[in-house]
Amino acid sequence: MEPLYEGKAKRLWATEDPEVLRMEFKNDATAFNGEKKAQFENKGRLNNEISTLIYGYLEKEGVPTHFIRQIDATNVEVHKVEILMVEVIVRNLAAGSFCKRTGVEEGMVFSQPIVEFSIKSDELGDPLVNDDYIRELKLATAEDLAFLRKSALRVNEILGGFFAECGLKLVDFKLEFGRLANDPSKIVLADEISPDGCRLWDLKSGEKMDKDRFRRDLGDVMEAYAEVLERVKLAVGG
Ligand code: C5P
Repeated sequence: MEPLYEGKAKRLWATEDPEVLRMEFKNDATAFNGEKKAQFENKGRLNNEISTLIYGYLEKEGVPTHFIRQIDATNVEVHKVEILMVEVIVRNLAAGSFCKRTGVEEGMVFSQPIVEFSIKSDELGDPLVNDDYIRELKLATAEDLAFLRKSALRVNEILGGFFAECGLKLVDFKLEFGRLANDPSKIVLADEISPDGCRLWDLKSGEKMDKDRFRRDLGDVMEAYAEVLERVKLAVGG
């Protein structure tokens, strides 16, 4: 059997139900738009566990998502969606491409969160775009964009508090959204939420606990992901 879709870190498989897909987390890690590649044992499992717990938490807080249930260590069941070609990034502190673009030092705290949009395109390297680009490229309507911005800020509030309970600072993260296949008028949160797509710094030591450990060759990549999982488990259970 062939997957319906294979991305850099996940595969999507059909199920007996045409409106339900199986999402498989791979052990592959990529950075710098696929230029840097590696495999980490247990990465798929760790990201699946973390993402499942966070999706459960977001659902409990009333955020509509694609998530249905965890199947096993590396697979979840999700509602089929048509992914929007706009990625939404929220930043609370300066890091990554923000610093590169502006020359600002990493760690500057923003007075309010920054929401930015990029085109979901490996070929183009997910370029940063503004509302006018998105309108003219017909990637989303103004109404959709307003919804994405509001949803992303709500997720930022919920997750900022949640990760603080985990002793982690939510520096920035990327979200993807999709239209439900069985009701395209509804846009829900899709993809995964894990240290692959969130910058998380230890509140006490400032240590990076996310994919920057891989991007910057800091070592102990999976040790950091495992530590994030342990803290997330405690925060959810406690
Ligand atoms: O690289 P940049 O600083 O723009 O990334 C902002 C946040 O979005 C980071 O947490 C990063 O992990 C995430 N991101 C992602 N996938 C992308 C681009 C960014 O998960 N294609």
